[in-house]
Amino acid sequence: MKYVNEFAEQLHAVLQEELELDKIASLIEKPKYSNQGDLSFPCFSLAKIRKAAPQKIAQDISEKLHSPLFDKIEVMGGYLNVFLNQKAVSQEVVQEVLKEGSRYGRNNDGKEGVITIDMSSPNIAKPFSMGHLRSTVIGNALALIVEKNGYKPVKINHLGDWGTQFGKLITAYKLWGSEEKVRSNPIKELLELYVRFHEEAEKNPALEDEGRRWFKALEDGDQEATELWKWFREESLKEFEEIYQLLNVSFDSYAGEAFYNDKMDAVIEILDQKGLLTLSDSAYVVKLDEEELPPCLIRKSDGATLYATRDLAAAKYRKDHYDFVKSLYVVGNEQSLHFKQLKAVLSKMGYAWADDISHIPFGMMLKDGKKMSTRKGKIILLEKVLKETIDMALKIINERNPSLENKEEVAKQVGVGAVIFHDLKNYRMNDIEFSMEDMLRFEGETGPYVQYTHARACSLLRKGGYKPDASVDVALEGDSAWEVVKTLEEFPVIVRRALDKYDPSLIGKYAIDLAQSFNKYYGEVRILEEDSAKASRLALVHAVTIVLAESLRLVGLEAPQEM
Ligand code: ARG
Repeated sequence: MKYVNEFAEQLHAVLQEELELDKIASLIEKPKYSNQGDLSFPCFSLAKIRKAAPQKIAQDISEKLHSPLFDKIEVMGGYLNVFLNQKAVSQEVVQEVLKEGSRYGRNNDGKEGVITIDMSSPNIAKPFSMGHLRSTVIGNALALIVEKNGYKPVKINHLGDWGTQFGKLITAYKLWGSEEKVRSNPIKELLELYVRFHEEAEKNPALEDEGRRWFKALEDGDQEATELWKWFREESLKEFEEIYQLLNVSFDSYAGEAFYNDKMDAVIEILDQKGLLTLSDSAYVVKLDEEELPPCLIRKSDGATLYATRDLAAAKYRKDHYDFVKSLYVVGNEQSLHFKQLKAVLSKMGYAWADDISHIPFGMMLKDGKKMSTRKGKIILLEKVLKETIDMALKIINERNPSLENKEEVAKQVGVGAVIFHDLKNYRMNDIEFSMEDMLRFEGETGPYVQYTHARACSLLRKGGYKPDASVDVALEGDSAWEVVKTLEEFPVIVRRALDKYDPSLIGKYAIDLAQSFNKYYGEVRILEEDSAKASRLALVHAVTIVLAESLRLVGLEAPQEM
């Protein structure tokens, strides 16, 4: 980036008023082939302004550019191609990485501003779905990226812990439930009770009334109902907690839907005062005709509030409580209408900060091309999946490196990392095919591949008797070393872009790029050869371990030193 800026400034000095500095910087690209140099400026926009041939313009400019960082400047067609001074740039980049360590790539764009991230948000008494997994890992990576860009992330688990289903669950539990069973296997047991309720209610509709009565009791604060609800919530959370621990994800707040029970009246009051409520089929709605959206349902005829009502209260609470500069919701794309309505209603209420709200949608997780669902009984329990990938990773480690000391620990880092990375190397809107074999491959674009590359680099440092020295004189030779340096140099730009686009896969792909360019270097160069450049090569390897570990960390993976 620095070199793009250097090039842009040089060009600006020559072009003066013809093009603005920002415009020039945005035009600079990477040449397609490395033999065409490192940076390229197309002269076609200038050709329009000057009404002259782009080649001629490129030639004119090239004669006026001088920088110690440029080795040579070539004119190719309408392009001005710069070859950077490899010695000077390598020295600068490697020294900077070594000096900064894991802080390399950090910036202070956020100036400590708060970004709230609504993520994970599973539903109590229901299995943790693949959608919740995606929300958890994407949200967690975003939080890390947010922090790297100088903002303060606040991770909020907006638990689905309220709604009429709890009346049904209480009814079912009182009729058929067993405390012991729920305690030993809460989610499976509660789900079975819930499914049974629906089966029996088909034959016996009076059960529905009973369910409604219990929900009403719950809303009115009835003691028995409240205690059961609390218990279901706690037991479910304990189970979710095990998944979060495996994934190494924590939250700043577990304020779920129920948290907003006493905060909705105030919001409904404001809607009413602003004349936004309309009675429709004896329910209150906010009409969104101008926005070309269906009306947003606020309160049903029996007085019950809805998912959207709770989200309105939550959005306002988050603004009042955290004073966010941005508020993100990492939720599947099937809820995009809901978030459009949410933003539209908040705008109508006169809140300018509605513009700072963004829905971060994502696609589905597929198994054999079909949606993985939680249909009756047929659930793929995530915890089981994670335990299986850990087992598989252990098996692979036992084959490849049987003498490794902390095998269990590394197997966990690799097995869980494989699942997370498999998600985060893909653009979030894409549907993903869930395949354990693919995830756990040590070659190809996988988490284990990047982790393994990192471990291999660490082992080189050990074998080479490397001693860190940030002021090392870096003398590197060859194209593959230069590719590694250029990839390292790109990292700060990728960190910014990943936040700008709310896209952790840019980091995932970057990690793969860096691992690939390093492995090429490793294959072509005798790194440990005892000659005068050995210290330089090891310094480069050290820089690679730092940036690989940091890119893995930003997508939520650990970087074992040995595996
Ligand atoms: N619990 C919801 C579900 O599983 C997701 C909640 C998302 N967050 C929100 N603020 N609406 O579908």
